[in-house]
Amino acid sequence: MRVFVLGGTGRIGAAVVRELVGRGHQLFALARSGASAAKLEQSGAVPIGGDIGSPAAWATTLPPLDAVIHMACDFKSDMATVERRLMDALLPALEAQRAKPRLIYTGGCWLFGETGDTIATEASPFHPLSAFAWMVPQLRRVLAAGEIDGIVIHPAMVYQGAGGVFERFAREARGGRTARVVGNEAIRWPLVHSEDLASLYALALERAAPGSSYMGAAIDGFPVGRIARAFARRFGAGREAPAIVSADAIAAELGEWARGYGLDQRLSGNKARRELGWAPWHLDPEGEIAGVL
Ligand SMILES: NC(=O)c1ccc[n+]([C@@H]2O[C@H](COP(=O)([O-])OP(=O)(O)OC[C@H]3O[C@@H](n4cnc5c(N)ncnc54)[C@H](OP(=O)(O)O)[C@@H]3O)[C@@H](O)[C@H]2O)c1
Repeated sequence: MRVFVLGGTGRIGAAVVRELVGRGHQLFALARSGASAAKLEQSGAVPIGGDIGSPAAWATTLPPLDAVIHMACDFKSDMATVERRLMDALLPALEAQRAKPRLIYTGGCWLFGETGDTIATEASPFHPLSAFAWMVPQLRRVLAAGEIDGIVIHPAMVYQGAGGVFERFAREARGGRTARVVGNEAIRWPLVHSEDLASLYALALERAAPGSSYMGAAIDGFPVGRIARAFARRFGAGREAPAIVSADAIAAELGEWARGYGLDQRLSGNKARRELGWAPWHLDPEGEIAGVL
């Protein structure tokens, strides 16, 4: 398929580009800088210059496409406005394509709020973290749009090795500092390795029914204290027990969006396993952390 990706250099997007190129799809990717264009070219995608903040400059000149996968986010901008304008330009532009394209939209686990012991599914109501509330009207618009065949993926917390959502623990432990956990050690994060998530995007691209949503959770909920302790052991940090910080403190340090680190969540990836044959195989994060370089 001829697939255009937004966010193809990101934590999620880079893995998706790699997976789709490996499966023989032809990739085009939005690049907002020369450095991003070079990375995309190296991954086997054809860069198309442009910024999600100014879609009028590129949306109407896209090549013929079978699908678009949106994984771009600029956490610093007013994303509510950027995203609404992006969709205002992109959806009509895609209507002009010769055949109706698929559009895979990226939501996220932080749209489902604190779940406690309840395991959230695609049927669960949204309780978005305020910093990401802008996603909900846009993903509803994608699912309802007649111009495209809309599909939504809600990634769990995405990691790979010492990267992604594990990066902060790894950095603190490598620096000999006590790793920090928001809230308390027992808080659970739904997890997915970026390679497993990329295979879910590929399956959704190739097989998902229009209008469907999928949770990209390989592990429904994993205590975050165990992740912090695994990094402390791996890098011989002074103290294995993490320091506990408040959601207010992490929001002041990193931004409002970082309150999500303090959510206790469980999410089920069973629908993707059942309907798409998704078979994530990274299921032992502590074992992987023990082996990271
Ligand atoms: N990572 C997770 O654990 C996770 C979990 C659930 C949901 N999500 C959602 O998934 C999406 C992607 O997350 P991520 O972690 O992969 O983000 P990321 O690593 O920060 O990547 C963001 C991507 O968007 C691109 N981008 C940013 N601003 C842009 C702009 N103005 N114009 C064009 N491209 C732009 C970046 O390109 P450059 O190379 O130019 O910077 C990069 O490719 C976000 O919506 C996020 O909320 C992520």
